[in-house]
Amino acid sequence: MEENKTVLVTGGSRGIGKEIALKFAKQGYDVIINYVSDKTDTEELKKELEANGGKALIVKADVTNPEQIENLVKTAIETFGKIDVLVNNAGITKDNLLMRMSEEEFDKVIEVNLKGTYLMTKAVTKYMMKKRQGSIINLSSVVGVTGNAGQCNYAASKAGIIGFTKSVAKELASRNIRANAIAPGFIATDMTDVLSDEIKETIQNQIPLKRMGNAKEVAELAYFLGSEQSSYITGQVIHVDGGMVM
Ligand SMILES: NC(=O)c1ccc[n+]([C@@H]2O[C@H](COP(=O)([O-])OP(=O)(O)OC[C@H]3O[C@@H](n4cnc5c(N)ncnc54)[C@H](OP(=O)(O)O)[C@@H]3O)[C@@H](O)[C@H]2O)c1
Repeated sequence: MEENKTVLVTGGSRGIGKEIALKFAKQGYDVIINYVSDKTDTEELKKELEANGGKALIVKADVTNPEQIENLVKTAIETFGKIDVLVNNAGITKDNLLMRMSEEEFDKVIEVNLKGTYLMTKAVTKYMMKKRQGSIINLSSVVGVTGNAGQCNYAASKAGIIGFTKSVAKELASRNIRANAIAPGFIATDMTDVLSDEIKETIQNQIPLKRMGNAKEVAELAYFLGSEQSSYITGQVIHVDGGMVM
């Protein structure tokens, strides 16, 4: 019998990451997710992920903590033997105008979004290189391409992810490992729920498709980029943004 493929999705407890994990699970993948806060009901989440077929492993691990990452990746390898697809999805915002932005706000967003992506990719790539196969998918943002007032820390982290993705794609292509970035626009999750109705309406009016996206629409692209159907695509930044940035 052919063994299941495996995907590791960081920040898979909520929002886009959870939908990505569910999409891969529905397609027969074994799924590893991590999360960081104490609010996550891991029993319920495991049930939901396993209802779709494959096995699920849920580990509490902060993507900024090298020891916790090592434990996460080691546990995943011990349980499933390999990681075929890595989705670097965990991310945070701490918005403020430049003049009001503290160093703490700037550093924390870079640390989670950009350094977390680097640490996770390094830890997982070690195993992908041995197998000479793998797909890495990094969650960037349209804001990493266009910039956004009030988000200089977040935009810098997401622009950094684009440069990181392209470099890794060039470095690892000879080992048959692909790396691509997804740039979502305005997607309905906890992250965007904090915005006022007025701001939401203003943003929606700037989107040609005139609505927010949903996490499932991002998950479809993540699955495609993880699968063999995208075997000749690497180093790309693909937007899921209703036409917001063209
Ligand atoms: N929503 C949008 O409109 C949008 C647009 C463009 C890009 N994105 C990007 O898409 C990704 C997912 O966004 P989302 O809207 O789904 O966010 P979300 O609903 O706020 O979920 C964030 C996820 O990241 C996890 N996380 C946060 N910090 C972490 C850390 N230090 N270590 C491990 N996990 C951590 C959270 O875990 P806990 O549940 O434990 O807190 C949660 O699972 C992010 O990278 C975001 O920047 C989102």
